[in-house]
Amino acid sequence: MKNVLRASQFDRPFLNHLCDLTTKIRKTDKTKEGSLFLQSLLKHKRAMLYFTQPSTRTYLSFQSACYILGMAASEIRDPSTSSERKGESIEDSLRTFSSYVDLIIMRSPVKGLCDKMADLLATTHRQIPIINAGSGPDEHPTQALLDIYTLERSFKHSGGVEGKTICLVGDLKRGRTIRSLTQLLVHYPKVKIIFSSPEQFRIEEDLRRFLKDRKQDFTEVQDLKKILPEVDAVYMTRVQDEYDQQQESRSIDTAPFKLIHDDLKLLKSTAVILHPLPRRDELDVKIDNDERARYWHQERNGMWVRTALISMLLGVDQEISRWEA
Ligand code: NCD
Repeated sequence: MKNVLRASQFDRPFLNHLCDLTTKIRKTDKTKEGSLFLQSLLKHKRAMLYFTQPSTRTYLSFQSACYILGMAASEIRDPSTSSERKGESIEDSLRTFSSYVDLIIMRSPVKGLCDKMADLLATTHRQIPIINAGSGPDEHPTQALLDIYTLERSFKHSGGVEGKTICLVGDLKRGRTIRSLTQLLVHYPKVKIIFSSPEQFRIEEDLRRFLKDRKQDFTEVQDLKKILPEVDAVYMTRVQDEYDQQQESRSIDTAPFKLIHDDLKLLKSTAVILHPLPRRDELDVKIDNDERARYWHQERNGMWVRTALISMLLGVDQEISRWEA
């Protein structure tokens, strides 16, 4: 693995390995001895966090992942403070970062920019890895990996993700987490995918085609409440109105696609509720204390999954797998 650019690059053996490694890291970091061991692994490496789109948890979890492995992390979050302001191209900026660091983690509003930058770096003498931490409405592959880890962990006593019914709710058209997660769910046999969204926010044609090509069954429903009793996981998302052209989201009725406390009565006792966060009113805060709410665990899992991913990209994963207290 040279870069992490899109969800479609991963297969099932990779996902299994990543989940095992993540659990190993999570447990190793619990003791001082284990934590110091992890910090010794990449003390000689540096990472760059280039985040030109808003972020709280993805940014902090990547930064924490770097620290867990002993890596120093520098950041640019506001391109107006970089030489891009002086007219430097993004290509030259990225190439400049690569002169100083060993890994670039980037979030950008521009679809496809990460792929372009990875292609560019491949032609230079400093071909360092790039991780896509969110590329416009297109992809969020590391979120999808942490979502899979959270699902696998939640269902560890009931056969994992295989055969489960997963309902994805909200702005499915522009939600990059949905797009990336869907592409990973197809690796789990007999998974049932249900999409629930307002008509205007239905999944894009390319994702629909992807599912058909993979012979993955899916249904699209308007009546969320009706299907809640059959789902094993409900994955809520917010309206991605930052991509509105003319505030068109405002006229869309999203009320039927919110989860309120009363809906807990409809859900199985074994079901789990996920959300990539940040949330708005699509997920009632009163749900937080229910044991089926897994989103705060999901958020913390992100740090461990990203640590595992960086350790693989920089070649210290086997050392971690072998380590014994
Ligand atoms: C998501 C994102 O940025 O796409 N957030 C995250 O990374 N956890 C979801 C969102 O912003 O709605």
